[in-house]
Amino acid sequence: MTVYSRITGTGGYLPAKILTNRDLEQMVETSDEWIYTRTGIRERHIAADNEQASDLALHASRRAISAAGIAAQEIDLIIVATTTPDMVFPSTACILQTKLGIRNCPAFDVQAVCSGFVYAVAIADQFVRSGQCRHALVVGTDVLSRITDWSDRSTCVLFGDGAGAVVLSAAEQPGILSSHLHADGGYRDALAAPGAVRAGKIEGRPFMQMEGGTVFKFAVNAFGEVAREALAANGLKTADIDWLIPHQANIRIIEATAAKLGLGMDKVVVTVDHHGNTSAASIPLALDEAVRDGRIREGQHVLLEGVGGGFTWGAVLLKW
Ligand code: ACO
Repeated sequence: MTVYSRITGTGGYLPAKILTNRDLEQMVETSDEWIYTRTGIRERHIAADNEQASDLALHASRRAISAAGIAAQEIDLIIVATTTPDMVFPSTACILQTKLGIRNCPAFDVQAVCSGFVYAVAIADQFVRSGQCRHALVVGTDVLSRITDWSDRSTCVLFGDGAGAVVLSAAEQPGILSSHLHADGGYRDALAAPGAVRAGKIEGRPFMQMEGGTVFKFAVNAFGEVAREALAANGLKTADIDWLIPHQANIRIIEATAAKLGLGMDKVVVTVDHHGNTSAASIPLALDEAVRDGRIREGQHVLLEGVGGGFTWGAVLLKW
């Protein structure tokens, strides 16, 4: 019998502290109006000093595991997508595993920045379909506030902290229809936090920097192309997409993508307004919101799309 993988539970978590555009007006030369019209962001959440990526991940994971109706002990693979791990090593996935009170299952991190969750789902899908695991926990968690230069108005208004998780379980019917991953390291300097740990010190600038226009144009093109690739692989058309869940970076990127695909914004899940760009967490956070409020229903086609530093990009097409 062919084995497929299917999302059986979702969960999300945003830290308690909210930083509004008005708050940012007190920190840098900016305005709520500038931020909202250029990005669609009103506010973002910021992790407490004692909260790490694994802590955010723990909250989101518990919610996803509970929604899947399984015990944490039944998880037999953990993949965490993050760019802001708790430490250099061990992986945030291993730290999450122990916080969940489980042992022995494989656990590792994936580093593909804002495409990390799509990469992690694509990897977990292979493990489930090959019969190597039955219940994979796939998490996107980031505390970008730790690598944000809060004196740089061109970047600090864009980002926030959060985590989202799904349980991917073995199933008789899909589930995940296909995944499509890409990378082009030729763009490594367009979006980067280039600092590196060397000889006990951080060498180079550890904060995020980006060429905003390059990122914008690349993201819109990549979202459009990889959506077409996913649809073609499954013999589907744009009209067959019930929900598009793109990485939540900027409302103008999302709107331009929808327009390019000929998809109405009523079919796009948008959460960027209330949490900004949370990198690997943004897609599972948006998915969780649309599942819990009943927008996503059984039998619908959902397209997840990520674009991030590297550049990396990719899509996962699934039937709910
Ligand atoms: N508040 C007020 N003014 C600002 C701010 C700010 N926060 N930031 C920049 N400005 C100024 C600039 O200094 C510039 O002033 P100048 O004309 O006097 O030089 C002016 O606003 C216009 O700047 P632009 O960069 O041209 O503004 P643009 O309309 O292109 O918007 C933005 C900038 C929002 C960053 C846009 O390029 C963008 O969205 N790029 C995509 C970046 C992105 O989403 N990155 C997220 C990571 S990538 C990912 O997740 C896929």
